[in-house]
Amino acid sequence: MRRLEEMERAPSSAVQLLLLSCCVVAAAGYPFQTPLDLDVTPRITVLSSGVQVCGRFQSAAVNYSTMLLEADSERLYVGARGAVFALNASDISAEPALAIEWEASLEQKRQCLLKGKDNKTECFNHIRFLQRFNATHLYVCGTHAFSPLCAYIEEERFVMSSQPEEGRDKCPYGPTTGYTALIVDQQMFTASQYEFRSFPDIRRNSPAPILKTEDAPTRWLNEADFVGSALVRESLGSSTGDDDKIYYFFTESSHEQPTTSGHSRVARVARVCKGDRGGRLTLQKRWTSFLKARLMCSLPEYDFHFNVLRNMFVMPGPMPQDTLFYGIFGLEWKNVKASAVCRFSLFEVQEAFQGPYMEKQDSDSEWKEYTGKIPDPRPGTCITDSLRARDINVSTSLPDDVLDFVRRHPLMSQQVQALDRRPLLFKRTIDYTHMAVHRTQGLDEYQYHVLYMGTDEGWLHKAVEVEGQLHIIEELQLFQDQQPVTNVLISPKQMSVYVSSPSGVVQLPLSNCRRYASCYDCIFSRDPHCAWNGAQCVDIMAHTDRSTLVQDVQKGSAGCDNTQDAFVPRSRMVRVGDDVLLQCELSSNLATPLWTLDGNELVGYGLNSGFRIGTDGLLIIEVRRNQSGLYTCYTVENNIRVTMVSFNVTVHLNLPAPPLVEPGKDHDSLDSGALEPTERPSSKNPQPPPVAPLLPHSELLSPREMEAMYLSLITILGGLCVVLTVVLIYVGVCLRVGDRGKYSLRTAAAAYTRRGSRGRKPHRNSAHLELKTISSHCNGNGVCNGVSKQHRSGIQDGGFLQIVPGEAHPRSNKEPPPPAPPLPPTPQLPSPEHDFPNGLSATLPSVLRRMNGNSYVLLRQSDSGNSSPLCHSFAEELNRILEKRKHTQLLPRPDESSV
Ligand SMILES: *[C@@H]1O[C@H](CO)[C@@H](O)[C@H](O)[C@H]1NC(C)=O
Ligand SMILES: *[C@@H]1O[C@H](CO)[C@@H](O)[C@H](O)[C@H]1NC(C)=O
Ligand SMILES: *[C@@H]1O[C@H](CO)[C@@H](O)[C@H](O)[C@H]1NC(C)=O
Ligand SMILES: *[C@@H]1O[C@H](CO)[C@@H](O)[C@H](O)[C@H]1NC(C)=O
Ligand SMILES: *[C@@H]1O[C@H](CO)[C@@H](O)[C@H](O)[C@H]1NC(C)=O
Repeated sequence: MRRLEEMERAPSSAVQLLLLSCCVVAAAGYPFQTPLDLDVTPRITVLSSGVQVCGRFQSAAVNYSTMLLEADSERLYVGARGAVFALNASDISAEPALAIEWEASLEQKRQCLLKGKDNKTECFNHIRFLQRFNATHLYVCGTHAFSPLCAYIEEERFVMSSQPEEGRDKCPYGPTTGYTALIVDQQMFTASQYEFRSFPDIRRNSPAPILKTEDAPTRWLNEADFVGSALVRESLGSSTGDDDKIYYFFTESSHEQPTTSGHSRVARVARVCKGDRGGRLTLQKRWTSFLKARLMCSLPEYDFHFNVLRNMFVMPGPMPQDTLFYGIFGLEWKNVKASAVCRFSLFEVQEAFQGPYMEKQDSDSEWKEYTGKIPDPRPGTCITDSLRARDINVSTSLPDDVLDFVRRHPLMSQQVQALDRRPLLFKRTIDYTHMAVHRTQGLDEYQYHVLYMGTDEGWLHKAVEVEGQLHIIEELQLFQDQQPVTNVLISPKQMSVYVSSPSGVVQLPLSNCRRYASCYDCIFSRDPHCAWNGAQCVDIMAHTDRSTLVQDVQKGSAGCDNTQDAFVPRSRMVRVGDDVLLQCELSSNLATPLWTLDGNELVGYGLNSGFRIGTDGLLIIEVRRNQSGLYTCYTVENNIRVTMVSFNVTVHLNLPAPPLVEPGKDHDSLDSGALEPTERPSSKNPQPPPVAPLLPHSELLSPREMEAMYLSLITILGGLCVVLTVVLIYVGVCLRVGDRGKYSLRTAAAAYTRRGSRGRKPHRNSAHLELKTISSHCNGNGVCNGVSKQHRSGIQDGGFLQIVPGEAHPRSNKEPPPPAPPLPPTPQLPSPEHDFPNGLSATLPSVLRRMNGNSYVLLRQSDSGNSSPLCHSFAEELNRILEKRKHTQLLPRPDESSV
């Protein structure tokens, strides 16, 4: 629920949205009592500003959705609303892009409006189909303002080669109607609910006779919503003289399952034989080979089913039998976001089609497994050698009893289970829309499957499958404006992934190894494309000599040497009683911070300890004399502790006045000498600091306004939360939500936004650090903590040195961070129940502190540990707002890269 854009602009609508999301989360709480380790956190988050793209294509047209790129082709064909484009596949932004404009006429649009259709969405020519027809021509179909047309495109010149022809049997009428189609040997196989209110249908449109699915006495398809189809050339190497088959993937209304589980929709796979010609008397112009079975994608131990199939990617194997189907599944409830990825094997699909049939005796009875005699030849099979031997060469020669059985028994009893009987991935709060899978060989010679999954909000998740589990390597924000990904396509030849959306098409490299600046970062990423060559993280494809490369996709831990480089600590001088932030940002959402003071781990970050550890650093509250010492920050990931930065902190009673430091000057000047007199003498009543120079980047709000807005927002939201909580508890609806925020694996509690950063360009890698500077935590006790700090650098505004910025991340250094020896058992990632072993979040004070005129807001909703789930979402949402605000306004910050 990245509703930040709107929130940014309209606090009141933000409140509404918040309210809504509170309710949604509360309502959604119920089905998600699942272990959190199933919900995979992307390791790296990259906002759109930091995403490296190879090319972007945009034009006056909108609603890019169909894409065609063949293995050896130089061109990427893209269908949009009212236009088809031919782009240079190696760089889609390269000029000139060839275009065919094909919009419905005004008269056509007028008639569309008369039909009661929406002239803002439906009364256009949305290109729904774009595929190769023969060696020289493509075939394209468009909705054409609710009156579909199809046309041939001459590929070479990229022009329509003739007048468009009737398309109503091949193309749906609307832009969003479920649809899938294939051209196989110049025959067109389509599946959709074509006309308004017509039954869904799987068809072969040419050559004659047109074949369809049956509606009586048994309807073969029930409100089917098609998401994909695939040809599997099972005739190749078949010992039985089998036919090629076309598989269809869809969601339909369930008619056979007893509705005890309350699910009305089910995911299905159906198939027909390519050579089917229909029956002669029975099943005339109907498929004689139609069979369907249920696709099961569920969490068996919770009896929790993902019933809606959203997308299917077909992964061909070395042999047709090795074909794999990767499906994105979702929930029936439209207001609840969740996705699961399940993988099926063709083998298990075939087994289901060879198993028992379901039967419905009469219209009133229920569907049960058919146990009677099955006619011979087996109903629903393709024509094979054994049938040919019996002089059954085509389906029209099949006996009537067989065809009559087919007509009444379209459904198989056996369900197709996902491989491993469980999803590869389960993801809350994300709706994946489209996916493509790339097979690539790792250094260990193992063939890894890398999944590229687009979300409904314009993000792309890249994940690698290792032993039946998906590790999400990164999440990339591809579009500034939230919009659904409408298609994902991979080209191994171009080493690119193409992603389409309503506003355009983006071309990305399959991997971006340079992003990982250290050996550990490279190894931790577990990206099978990437390996460490001793100096850099490189794409292994570019290296023929791989002997010097290291990679560990399986575990993400081995390969980097443990030698500890000399690490020069940075010096910090602070005044007694000040709050000190030692900065140490973690780029990985999977890493946990660990701090030591003079070699001893800082533990018990309770209220009294005076420490807070966040994902961006360590906060020492009201620093005491005896807290001087060497502070070292480590990041712990995959059980390996890596040194990030260390600080030599000296606590003084009084500090001399700081010299004026010009804005923009690197604060690292402070580091050059710990004894440099950078502080002015303290007075008992510190004067209010001069107003900080206005940030060049606060386009939206001035800091004051922002502050005021924060406060009012917080107040409003807090009030709402309380009201809602009371109401909720009163009604007795107290749902438990084990929700700890989106990236809450981190044991961070305090989070700060720093204002007054100087107008420096963010360093190259800052983009993926930013999401973590504010963290939200809701632990198992149900305590909500949202912490916000607003602060101007004490150096800059002439105040005292209170918060000490350190370097963000050593990634930006020339040299990799000194790797640390792997630790003996490191702290495990907190389990959902014992989130904060140190009791951190339970003891955050609810204080509103003011320091030198800069307010520090520390928000706390509850001590009692039985707060309502609404609070969770509240804290979460609030943090997201703050996060967003930080990105938009505070992005330029001191270059923290230099040591
Ligand atoms: C087409 O794009 C517009 C905005 O670009 C969007 O609002 C609309 O929902 C899109 N329609 C479809 C069918 O994707
Ligand atoms: C496509 O773009 C690449 C790189 O920009 C260029 O080298 C190539 O000639 C282009 N191909 C065509 C067919 O224009
Ligand atoms: C849609 O039709 C309405 C009349 O029903 C008209 O006022 C409006 O301008 C039309 N919009 C577009 C985009 O054509
Ligand atoms: C491909 O199909 C088009 C349209 O039917 C036809 O005009 C053309 O001759 C065909 N090309 C070949 C090589 O068969
Ligand atoms: C079936 O095909 C075989 C050879 O392929 C042929 O000999 C036979 O006559 C055909 N039978 C029918 C009924 O067409």
